[in-house]
Amino acid sequence: SAAEKGGYEWFMLKEMDEQPQAVADTLLGRHSQTGQLQLDEMRLSDDELREVDRIVIIACGTASYAGLVAKYAIEHWTRIPCEVELASEFRYRDPILDKSTLVVAISQSGETMDTLMAIRYARQQKARVLSICNTNGSTIPRESDAVIYTHAGPEVAVASTKGFLSQVVACYLLALYLAQVKGTKYGDEIASILAEIDRVPAGIQRLLDEGDQVRKLAADLSGSRSILFLGRHVGYPVALEGALKLKELAYIHAEGFAAGELKHGPIALVEDGLPVFVVVPPKGRDQLQEKTISSIQEIRARGARTIVLAEDGDDDVVPYADHLIRLPKVPTLLQPLVATVPLQIFATEFADQLGHDVDQPRNLAKSVTVE
Ligand code: G6P
Repeated sequence: SAAEKGGYEWFMLKEMDEQPQAVADTLLGRHSQTGQLQLDEMRLSDDELREVDRIVIIACGTASYAGLVAKYAIEHWTRIPCEVELASEFRYRDPILDKSTLVVAISQSGETMDTLMAIRYARQQKARVLSICNTNGSTIPRESDAVIYTHAGPEVAVASTKGFLSQVVACYLLALYLAQVKGTKYGDEIASILAEIDRVPAGIQRLLDEGDQVRKLAADLSGSRSILFLGRHVGYPVALEGALKLKELAYIHAEGFAAGELKHGPIALVEDGLPVFVVVPPKGRDQLQEKTISSIQEIRARGARTIVLAEDGDDDVVPYADHLIRLPKVPTLLQPLVATVPLQIFATEFADQLGHDVDQPRNLAKSVTVE
């Protein structure tokens, strides 16, 4: 009803606006100023967690992209090898699991059948299962050894928004908790990462406040039949998520690619006027920013219309951006928490321009309870 939508035209718009709160609530009460983490529903002991020598994340759809983001942070902070797998593929390839494997199932609804069947299989193989879930008492957390709830509040729109951001945050809390238990990061390092995460809601708010320029861009591009998204490092899953949102809501061809993979195939798709979003990593070591900028130059030379997401103060991108979306400055690993927001706004407005039902896209269900 209109009242439930709180004056918004779509639940999705309301839920996007709730993202600063969703992130803040997922962090709330879970860490001290000194970086000590406390996860009350973590039913695995520190000894059990110290035994973990491998992490396998399983999820579907948007939740699987939260998992892909998390993999970078988990391996970087904990030095525990981590892989991410689509739940629907997981148990059919005879995966190698034992009690030192931690399977992390990510699910907003907690009812996705593919994910549920995957965790049942994992437990039969003696792996420990921790779920990251937004729905209290749902089936997936009930059947897990431990749970970290995301506190995003109910998500109604089929396409996930605040669910996604809070999943990334919950995965980061898990990663930092493991780092704390395993001693791969010290309290002050953890505290400084958490202090950066605490600043993220303000960054998300700013991007929401600046949404008009993204909506105008969506209106300008609403005649496009195909749009590409490029990213590197954690920007790669952001690109996948930006493309998925557009497929789900606007029913147009959209694909996300790793920017470095362009030359191995996708660049053949680039033709005059093709809109391409590029998420540029913050400037830093590894030269990821420089390498992403050369990808932008390559597609632009072939006629792409470039829509560049880059942090404040990154002036290197200016000559190559047909359209520039500024992101607040955050550490690389946190960039998905801000960079995803303009892509959500874009997809929503694009679909709205085409007259589609933004909350209930055709052929999709919020929670898929069949395999
Ligand atoms: C469905 C929804 C997607 C969602 C996926 C996983 O396909 O349409 O938006 O990402 O399920 O849902 P879950 O509840 O497990 O996170």
